[in-house]
Amino acid sequence: MRIAKFCKAATTLTYMIILILAASHQVGTASASNAADEEEEDFNGILVNKPGADITFAYCAGCHSERIIAQQGLTRDGWIEVLEWMAEDQGMGEIEDPDYTDIINYLSDHYGEDRPNFPS
Ligand code: HEC
Repeated sequence: MRIAKFCKAATTLTYMIILILAASHQVGTASASNAADEEEEDFNGILVNKPGADITFAYCAGCHSERIIAQQGLTRDGWIEVLEWMAEDQGMGEIEDPDYTDIINYLSDHYGEDRPNFPS
């Protein structure tokens, strides 16, 4: 009688462990796939997903986070100066056209003085 009870308890326990493992596995895979989705959407980090984001990220996020860019709010001339400064004093290679113009357009359109896309 006692042994039978023990066996039943042990069986129940085994089921519980299996259920817990299955549940935690599901949770694990669910959050893993969410992370993958987010990565796909945010492959340019926090940069606004508009034409020019890819190229700006590619040239600018190698040395520092793109956040340092998104925090700025500059006029077109201001961005031109930043890029000159990056090239002259920070070791950035010169960027040729059409990439240069694409980047300046992107930055002045989306990271202007009114800071429309200031990161939260
Ligand atoms: C070769 C490395 C390198 C590359 C490439 C680079 N930067 Fe920088 N950038 C730096 C360094 C180093 C600093 C920090 C300078 C300091 O604060 O003294 C910096 C700082 C900045 C800042 C902050 C300015 C401030 O006032 O705090 C901005 C904005 C910026 N970079 C924009 C860009 C943009 C836009 C690009 C792409 C076109 C770019 N950077 C590419 C090295 C780089």
